[in-house]
Amino acid sequence: MIDKQMEDALNVQFNKELASALIYAAMAADFSVKGFNGFARWMTLQAKEETSHAMKFYEFILDRGGRPVFSAMEKPQESWNSPQEAFEAALAHEQFISKSIDELAGLARKLDDKAAEVFLHWFISEQVEEESTVESILDTFSLIGSNAQGIYMLNKELGSRE
Ligand code: FEO
Repeated sequence: MIDKQMEDALNVQFNKELASALIYAAMAADFSVKGFNGFARWMTLQAKEETSHAMKFYEFILDRGGRPVFSAMEKPQESWNSPQEAFEAALAHEQFISKSIDELAGLARKLDDKAAEVFLHWFISEQVEEESTVESILDTFSLIGSNAQGIYMLNKELGSRE
């Protein structure tokens, strides 16, 4: 049976992953409305990935004899001033999530919950990848600056995400 403190902390993260899905879906909607269909596709897939992260927490909590608990979600921001600004917000959000996962792994260690520790290893690696992916997109935005053709090309490239 899972320690109650660990169960509660996993539920907090479960809801943070759901909130991440909501934020990226809101970014996708903003991009679609503004005609950036490639960026919108990238963010839609990102939102789906976050839902799958949330469901990993959901399954793990159940497997350990706990109960997944849903929290009220904060309404996500509706609009961003530019695609670059949205991706900057995405990076800041991923950094926040990485910190949160690290703290969760620290708690698992403190409580000597080895199953939770092993479960969280996947997320620690995933966060390295998530941050790195968004950072390289932001590097491209820096290179492009305000060049409309460059933004058009990047929009097209990100639209090919599988
Ligand atoms: Fe599930 Fe992007 O962190």
